[in-house]
Amino acid sequence: MANIFLTPNYICMGEGALQHSKEHMKKLGTKALVVTDASMIKLNNVKKLTKVLDEIQIEYEVFSDINCEPTNHMVDAGIDIYKDTGCNFLIGIGGGSPLDTMKAIGAVIGNGGNVCDYVGKPLKNPMPPTVCIPTTAGTGTEASKASVITNTKTNVKMLLNDPKLMAELAIVDPEFTLTAPPSVTAATGIDALTHAIEAYLSRKSFLMSDIYAVSAIKRIFANLYEAYTNGGNIHARNQMAVASLEAGISFTNSSVTLVHGMSRPIGALFHVPHGLSNAMLLCKCLEFIAPCVVDRLSILAKEIGCYQVGMSDMDAAKSFVEETKKLCGQLHIQTLAEYGIDRGEFFAAIDKMATDAIASGSPGNTRVPPTKEDLIQIYKSLWDESIL
Ligand SMILES: NC(=O)c1ccc[n+]([C@@H]2O[C@H](COP(=O)([O-])OP(=O)(O)OC[C@H]3O[C@@H](n4cnc5c(N)ncnc54)[C@H](O)[C@@H]3O)[C@@H](O)[C@H]2O)c1
Ligand SMILES: [Fe+2]
Repeated sequence: MANIFLTPNYICMGEGALQHSKEHMKKLGTKALVVTDASMIKLNNVKKLTKVLDEIQIEYEVFSDINCEPTNHMVDAGIDIYKDTGCNFLIGIGGGSPLDTMKAIGAVIGNGGNVCDYVGKPLKNPMPPTVCIPTTAGTGTEASKASVITNTKTNVKMLLNDPKLMAELAIVDPEFTLTAPPSVTAATGIDALTHAIEAYLSRKSFLMSDIYAVSAIKRIFANLYEAYTNGGNIHARNQMAVASLEAGISFTNSSVTLVHGMSRPIGALFHVPHGLSNAMLLCKCLEFIAPCVVDRLSILAKEIGCYQVGMSDMDAAKSFVEETKKLCGQLHIQTLAEYGIDRGEFFAAIDKMATDAIASGSPGNTRVPPTKEDLIQIYKSLWDESIL
């Protein structure tokens, strides 16, 4: 079977990537809407960008009202600024939230209507040129055809998914990730790991997506703990930035599956950051699907070096799941209770969350698609070890 393989049009990566991208950015337009958040301004990252834009005589408008849960209203506000100030291309700088908002603004600028119109629907027209500058490693949105925006009316994290949401230029400079605090490094690093594992276990995977997924998984196991404990280690940060990009490419060409499907409703209803809700779910979901993907998990065990001679495929698969649990433990991933979620409120929402997760389509990409009842049991198991 043949497959299309998508990547951003241009990727500029490594230390100094922003400076190195000047000539390319110059070709994209004359006035940029810079979509970002308040902490990027505080950290001077926006200044670093606008200094470069000044050097190449590109005008800009900065829109920094994005928080960790971008909504349809933020997209609307960005569209108004883009139009009112005569922008003709877009730059997102920050974590996945500003980058996804930037892409959603681009989708609506190119196609009209409202962002809520495009859930599960193809985009007819391209976005204006877009530049993604990630500061977390990460969501991989710089290399993905997705954008996740919360619909404030339905309380659903909407998944926009179309090849036209792929960035024109991804600028992946690990220096921007140096300031990420350990909790953000851990959660976003596990998000990247989840992308790669899910892409590898998805029924939509193929040889090229596997190559990127396996490489990302190996790189994350080798470097995430170091980036978490020693955030100033530029080598580890660079490896994580590469891994996040690889993981983004892998899942955009394959797909995410059960973890992401179940994670979005937790984010929408309980405002748990995306990477953290993935991390809370990853090991439970792996344990649940392991019997259906023993062969693939045993390959991953060999790739990350936790296979021992003489192990059966099943033992190797279990060993990979154990290594993943160990990594999450080392990163001090909080439980729902530790994060402050009320058990009663969570249980009352489980039926809606399972319905929304199935409706998103992601769980259906698992090699043996789970039922709504399976999802309900997994949600419950986040509170009770004896379930599952
Ligand atoms: N489009 C996709 O393919 C895709 C994939 C995965 C996740 N997502 C979405 O991405 C969003 C999450 O993105 P995220 O996890 O990168 O977090 P985020 O963008 O929400 O940022 C989290 C926090 O970290 C801060 N931060 C970011 N970079 C920093 C740095 N270098 N130094 C200090 N602080 C920094 C931010 O200001 C914010 O306070 C979610 O909405 C999720 O749904 C999208
Ligand atoms: Fe993700």
